[in-house]
Amino acid sequence: MAIQIPFALLTLSTIFLLLPPYTTADYVLYNGEVLMAGQNLTNGYYRLTMQPNCDLVLYDNYDTPIWQTNTAGGGQNCYVTLKPNGEMVVRRDVHYTLWSSASKSKKGKYALVLNSNGRLGIYGQRRWSSNNQKDAKVLSRSEVKTEYVLFSGQRLSPPRKLKYRNYSLGFSKCNLVIRDERSEKALWQTNTDGNDCYLQLENDGELSVKRSGERVWSSNKRGESGEYIAVLRFDGRLHVYGPQVWSNESREDSELLTASPVVGVDSASSL
Ligand SMILES: *[C@@H]1O[C@H](CO)[C@@H](O)[C@H](O)[C@H]1NC(C)=O
Ligand SMILES: *[C@@H]1O[C@H](CO)[C@@H](O)[C@H](O)[C@H]1NC(C)=O
Ligand SMILES: *[C@@H]1O[C@H](CO)[C@@H](O)[C@H](O)[C@H]1NC(C)=O
Repeated sequence: MAIQIPFALLTLSTIFLLLPPYTTADYVLYNGEVLMAGQNLTNGYYRLTMQPNCDLVLYDNYDTPIWQTNTAGGGQNCYVTLKPNGEMVVRRDVHYTLWSSASKSKKGKYALVLNSNGRLGIYGQRRWSSNNQKDAKVLSRSEVKTEYVLFSGQRLSPPRKLKYRNYSLGFSKCNLVIRDERSEKALWQTNTDGNDCYLQLENDGELSVKRSGERVWSSNKRGESGEYIAVLRFDGRLHVYGPQVWSNESREDSELLTASPVVGVDSASSL
């Protein structure tokens, strides 16, 4: 037993480094990041809170719980994280799983999104990324109120922009540009010209710039059909994730909710 405790501490501190405790996160959680007790994802009126009593609860604008993992009383020092297989888990003591979204998928990069209608969705794996240099600065993930996620089926037409902190994604005429708003420097662009362009995310994950309905630029990455997202990330890159592998309204999940919470240990290094 004595050998396992330092390992646990080491693992937990590794997790802490990825998302510093006691910050409020915004509305996207990437795999590797954690929400600790007291931390929230917030989007407009909706708030997903990792409560100190171990329950993960989604609240609406009247502070009424509309969804929860029913893990209250599960212990202390609980957290929620998104694993590299797209599974969202509520855990305590580093590895002990109290609740799982049961959305095990291929290993990759995933994103959990709380949308402005209060729906939770897990998207992945990552299909495409813009190739501009990543901003490597330590992120302080305080609440973000701007729009920075494009869902499949949606278009981004000028003058609308996606904005995350100091980054923006929008058109300058027909040229789609990721800009650093501080220096006004273009970090990445499609170099497309003309007028009347828009960006569209298809339901196979393809991102394209269209001019009068005709493709003038494409990410050329397609997957199976489903719900995808394009996110302007904290590091200044645009990523496409999908299709959606889980939402709080999926059938698997409602089965989990009516049954007692899933209990299990899913790591070789179990405590
Ligand atoms: C999470 O939201 C609650 C309710 O609005 C708030 O009291 C709390 O301070 C938030 N947590 C953080 C870390 O900001
Ligand atoms: C999922 O969230 C939506 C939006 O808040 C809510 O209306 C719905 O009831 C939730 N689904 C489940 C299964 O709880
Ligand atoms: C933009 O960057 C500056 C300098 O790095 C920082 O002080 C400021 O808070 C950032 N703005 C936003 C909205 O994050």
